[in-house]
Amino acid sequence: MSKGLRLDTRYLQGSVSAEDIEAILPEVEKAHSLLVNRDGEGSEYLGWMDLPCNINEDILKDIEDTASKMRKNSDAIVVIGIGGSYLGARATVETLASEEDRRNIFFAGYNMSCVSLSALLNRLEDKDVSVNVISKSGTTTEPAITFRILEDFLQKKYGPDNISDRVICTTDNEKGALRAIADKKGYKSFVIPDDVGGRFSVFTPVGLLPIACAGINIRELVEGALRQREENLNCDISSNISYMYAAARNCLYRKGKRIEILGSFNSKLHYVDEWWKQLFGESEGKGGHSIFPASCDFSTDLHSMGQLIQQGERNLFETFLVVEKECSECEIPVSEDNLDNLNYLANKQLSYINRKAYEATAEAHFEGGVPNSTVFIPEMTPFYLGKLFYFFEKAVGASAYIAGVNPFNQPGVEAYKNKMFKLLGKPKA
Ligand code: PA5
Repeated sequence: MSKGLRLDTRYLQGSVSAEDIEAILPEVEKAHSLLVNRDGEGSEYLGWMDLPCNINEDILKDIEDTASKMRKNSDAIVVIGIGGSYLGARATVETLASEEDRRNIFFAGYNMSCVSLSALLNRLEDKDVSVNVISKSGTTTEPAITFRILEDFLQKKYGPDNISDRVICTTDNEKGALRAIADKKGYKSFVIPDDVGGRFSVFTPVGLLPIACAGINIRELVEGALRQREENLNCDISSNISYMYAAARNCLYRKGKRIEILGSFNSKLHYVDEWWKQLFGESEGKGGHSIFPASCDFSTDLHSMGQLIQQGERNLFETFLVVEKECSECEIPVSEDNLDNLNYLANKQLSYINRKAYEATAEAHFEGGVPNSTVFIPEMTPFYLGKLFYFFEKAVGASAYIAGVNPFNQPGVEAYKNKMFKLLGKPKA
């Protein structure tokens, strides 16, 4: 039997008491009821809750077959998307793909840096290329411009009429420019369900196709989410760790802890942190309410942000991600002369020392006034990453409802877009 994720809250002691949890319980129950009865704000976007059990065999098979074709006819697959249409796939690929598969996947469309795009086009010059362009609205400027440039690149490389087997569009079933392009030009397309918003879409073709293109087992990823969904069905915070996490972070916020740092001790998790920042930032930061989601890579950031965390303003709390079983090991060798005085660590595994670094950090930050909890992940496999994604999705849904905001919209994102369109002279639709 597989192990579960584990949430260790011992270092919340003194900041979140049993009474605090008791007091917030009615709000957790209310949030739970809004989620399961689908009568909260934004409830038309709750499709992600049952996604892991609703994905049907035909879609999984179509994704796998398409990915396998793309892997066969291309040595470079470019995934174009931004925000929720990009980060779930990137997090999974960076965490789980083999070195070789990782080298063949390129992400683009998430900025408008000429330097990055020119460098990408140069790297693609002598490769066989396929493109998966992802946009739910089908109109987001950054990926749309990037796709126009990449489509032009493909047309010049293969001939204007020879690229239909090299472009896959993932978008809405009916609306948006990308849907129109796919239909008009006969590109294969995958549909993003209406009731699933971008940042909750990793278990749709948005995430699954690029993940499969990187040779990662998407069935195991979905299976992990399915298991986590089952574990998170009830409202009992002693067993539902998503709700425990949501309750604790709201208690901390109400005590002036306005910044949450997600800290991981495994460099492979860097983009999981980025995915988490987008999920929580865009879901909760509205209506004058926000827990600022920040992230740190440890040990790296212990020698930069570590100072601030230990002794700066006490408005922080931390959540650590710790992988219990590393997938590779590195042993410290014995040194005859021991000039570096490290023989006391000889024959020890690096993972053991990394674990002690985590334990030391959690304790030191707690003693310095930074309450923290830890999510223990048994192993970094597709199954456990699927569990982790679902754990956080359920947590943010509950957490935002506890905070009294709609988790599923992002009206603030429009502000910069409107100004930019004005500056660019975009014609009115
Ligand atoms: O989470 C979200 O909904 C957003 O971050 C979107 O994913 C992002 O804005 C990209 O939108 P689209 O897929 O419509 O291009």
